[in-house]
Amino acid sequence: MPELEQAPKLDQAPKLDQAPKLDQALAEVAAEMAERSDRGDVATYIPQLGKVDPRKFGIAAVTNDGRVLVAGDADQPFSIQSISKVFTLTLALGNVGDALWKRVGREPSGNPFNSIVQLEHENGIPRNPFINAGAIVISDILLAGHQPREAIGEILRFIQFLADDETIIIDREVAASERATGYRNFALANYMKSFGNLHHAPELALGVYFHHCAIAMSCRQLAMAGRFLANGGKNPATGHSVVSAERARRIGAMMLTCGHYDGSGDFAFRVGIPGKSGVGGGILGIVPGVASLAVWSPGLNANGNSKLGSIALEKLARMMNWSIFAP
Ligand code: DON
Repeated sequence: MPELEQAPKLDQAPKLDQAPKLDQALAEVAAEMAERSDRGDVATYIPQLGKVDPRKFGIAAVTNDGRVLVAGDADQPFSIQSISKVFTLTLALGNVGDALWKRVGREPSGNPFNSIVQLEHENGIPRNPFINAGAIVISDILLAGHQPREAIGEILRFIQFLADDETIIIDREVAASERATGYRNFALANYMKSFGNLHHAPELALGVYFHHCAIAMSCRQLAMAGRFLANGGKNPATGHSVVSAERARRIGAMMLTCGHYDGSGDFAFRVGIPGKSGVGGGILGIVPGVASLAVWSPGLNANGNSKLGSIALEKLARMMNWSIFAP
């Protein structure tokens, strides 16, 4: 069990009107994280990710009232990896609606993100859309009626639209690196195919999956893309609806309960907001009604979630008195 961060205790957390200004809080958190020597371990099972400098740290907040505040390496793109699963889930729900839940569950797995153990007992239905097996089924759903190239393009354009930024790209070297070493994901996809829970060839669903995981974004771009989740499903800048308010709540519920795999309970306990991590070291955090947050520190903890990213969000949430459980 990771140590809880020292500072301030919940009953000592500032009241909202005493909270520091957000730009000061971000700068303080970034300065403190820069000093840390124990930064976790960069993922190496995708060789291309192992090349990233573990000293990087970035953080960004985009508030519903339109402020974009950043600190550290917030403009450097990194591999968003599993954070992309929030956006593919959103797209797939838009395509097939609640029928999606016949093929993917809504329960935390309590297992690592790439585990295969539950699939046999549960007839090839993954526990949730954020573990790898669940996200591969979502990729299969997004393939319906498309070539892989078109499905990948649709995902990328959706994320560019959400972030209002057409410069966001897929890092082809990361996608190729993952495909070359993705033996577990091939095993998961083949296993689900044997249960009839993939409608396309495993290599096609995996092609979509590897490419959306390889999307590269900065903290600023990621926090921008998450705005609709902090604002009841609407882009706060334009007022345009991305999803219904109910769907935004439900995606947030999935992030809270499943967004950090077998570390989801600990993240909810320590940070108290919905979050989604990726093995590239990023985390997207949502403060409903207030702000979309993104943090990046490449070193991971034992559950494969950003070590300093989790600590930074824990500190920021305490400083700002942000929690979905706050009265
Ligand atoms: O399939 C994989 O293993 C990666 N593309 C994504 C895993 C991931 O990001 C888990 N997150 N913490």
